[in-house]
Amino acid sequence: MSTQLPLRPLGQTGIAVSPLGLGTVKFGRNQAVKYPAHFELPTDEQIVELLTTARTLGINTLDTAPAYGTSEARLGQLLPGKRSDWVIIGKVGETFIDGVSDYNFNADFIERSIEHSLKNLNTDYLDVMLIHSNGDDVNIIQHHRVFETLEKLKSQRLIRAFGMSTKTIAGGLLTLQHADVAMITYNPIAPEEKPVIDTAVKQHKGILIKKALASGHLNKIAAEDPLRATMNFIFNTPGVSSVIVGTINPAHLQENVRAARCVLTP
Ligand SMILES: NC(=O)c1ccc[n+]([C@@H]2O[C@H](COP(=O)([O-])OP(=O)(O)OC[C@H]3O[C@@H](n4cnc5c(N)ncnc54)[C@H](OP(=O)(O)O)[C@@H]3O)[C@@H](O)[C@H]2O)c1
Repeated sequence: MSTQLPLRPLGQTGIAVSPLGLGTVKFGRNQAVKYPAHFELPTDEQIVELLTTARTLGINTLDTAPAYGTSEARLGQLLPGKRSDWVIIGKVGETFIDGVSDYNFNADFIERSIEHSLKNLNTDYLDVMLIHSNGDDVNIIQHHRVFETLEKLKSQRLIRAFGMSTKTIAGGLLTLQHADVAMITYNPIAPEEKPVIDTAVKQHKGILIKKALASGHLNKIAAEDPLRATMNFIFNTPGVSSVIVGTINPAHLQENVRAARCVLTP
């Protein structure tokens, strides 16, 4: 039996993502985060080991952002293999400097930020670019017209697809109406945004899941095996393209792939 996770389409973008992706907040930021325990940033060697293991297990999808401290720059420096081996999801709109988050959704800022992300990541394109919402999803879309800016960058081939990492159902639905993909929170203790996934199925759009493991608070998921229960819950929801789980622990990475594989290849 193959140990690789089979890739799946990200909506109609033409991009094939692994059902399990790797979130990289913890590659570059350990301040003002909501994980259960403090942690030290991984060394370069540990990051290379994680990325190599991820690739070997069939993970091709990585999620990063300017707000994740040094995550982008470390990926740019340490990513093993060819650029085309990976699907890189970036974000724009939030910055995190000296422990403080700031948000800017103006067109000029978005263009400059993406230029900077491309330099950091040592690449000339990003596969997916998501607006990094502060929670005011609908206003960001309607007032700042962010998707018009991203559409322009897509036509310039700087990004292949775009959408928003949303925090509201209304924002998720509006994103699907105007963009290729929405990233939403979804897990057994936070099932509220399921209508966004159901709509994505009807509209053939991509869905990325964040905070699948409740940001590490697995003890809040009432099940004998919370990891297995969560993977079952999420992957049994039609319409999920990729579940982006954050980890800097290679044993957890292996365990997560095993749990995903149990649901996906019964
Ligand atoms: N607004 C946004 O756009 C936004 C917000 C949040 C997250 N995200 C993206 O989504 C990704 C995932 O979200 P997240 O990091 O908040 O939450 P998550 O994936 O639900 O949880 C990550 C936490 O779970 C732990 N973990 C992973 N596998 C585990 C296992 N098998 N057993 C026990 N603990 C395990 C990790 O610790 P270890 O390192 O010890 O494994 C880490 O602390 C992020 O990395 C980021 O890329 C985006």
